[in-house]
Amino acid sequence: MDIESIGIVGAGQMGNGIAHVCALAGYDVLLNDVRPEALEEAVALIRRNLDRQVSRGKVADTDRDAAMARIRTTLTLTDLGPKDLVIEAATEREDVKHAIFAELVPALGKQTILTSNTSSISITRLASRTDRPERFMGFHFMNPVPVMQLVELIRGIATDDATYAACHGVVERLGKTAATAEDFPAFIVNRILMPMINEAVYTLYEGVGNVNSIDQAMKLGTNHPMGPLELADFIGLDTCLAIMNVLHDGLGDTKYRPCPLLTKYVEAGWLGRKTQRGFYDYRGETPQPTR
Ligand code: CAA
Repeated sequence: MDIESIGIVGAGQMGNGIAHVCALAGYDVLLNDVRPEALEEAVALIRRNLDRQVSRGKVADTDRDAAMARIRTTLTLTDLGPKDLVIEAATEREDVKHAIFAELVPALGKQTILTSNTSSISITRLASRTDRPERFMGFHFMNPVPVMQLVELIRGIATDDATYAACHGVVERLGKTAATAEDFPAFIVNRILMPMINEAVYTLYEGVGNVNSIDQAMKLGTNHPMGPLELADFIGLDTCLAIMNVLHDGLGDTKYRPCPLLTKYVEAGWLGRKTQRGFYDYRGETPQPTR
């Protein structure tokens, strides 16, 4: 099946990045959110990120303008119905995702492929609540979407080969590389990454190191572009905690128990960069460690 038009649910951190790369690859994009300000901010941010790519010689200015012209926005979820592919990138909460699919599914074209950018929730369970488990799969982008090369493709138990092939074709047209994962809690990237981040928080909690020493150790000692605590702030501490809970509940092994300090930061509303405070405080000129 040929995919030419893509509907994206959610204009947040992931949704706007997905709209950016899809429009740049020549797809018609319709971006949906419940908040008009979120749509306005997303379009402005896509423009700024494209400008940055133009100024670094990565994108031609004519391609930036063509990409911007391919992005439309809507507050009405069901407007996404006629698209060839829908990528849901709303809040990482299962009840929210089920509610979105319940409203969207009656409006979908018969052939539309429905996907979720979920970073950890069961694809099979999400699919089972729709009318098209065979045309449903996980389409998991990494943050920041315009920079990261990987897309994780996750097949639910019922996903058919044509759906997988169509999604794989989209990843190739985006110029990215697909890694295929089976549908088990947190798939591949987060199954490995989140326990590492959680362990970094335990290392902080137990006083083995402070924020600076832990991040520096991992950056300089293992050549990671960001330390694990800086990366946790970048991803969002609420998202990290939610994924640890999915691993803990789904696999039932105590090695996945979320660190109490991670829970405490989330309880404080210190969610990382998006709230200006997490393991670092971003309110000043340069980020300051909070421990
Ligand atoms: N849009 C477009 N371009 C962007 C961008 C954006 N949003 N953000 C950064 N860039 C570009 C910059 O323009 C720059 O381009 P050049 O190489 O041409 O100069 C390049 O990316 C590097 O950016 P910066 O120079 O600003 O900063 P940096 O060198 O510190 O790199 C980073 C920033 C790319 C984010 C890097 O620190 C990094 O790779 N960090 C790790 C990110 C990571 O691990 N992401 C995965 C998280 S896990 C996940 O997403 C899954 C999940 O479900 C939680």
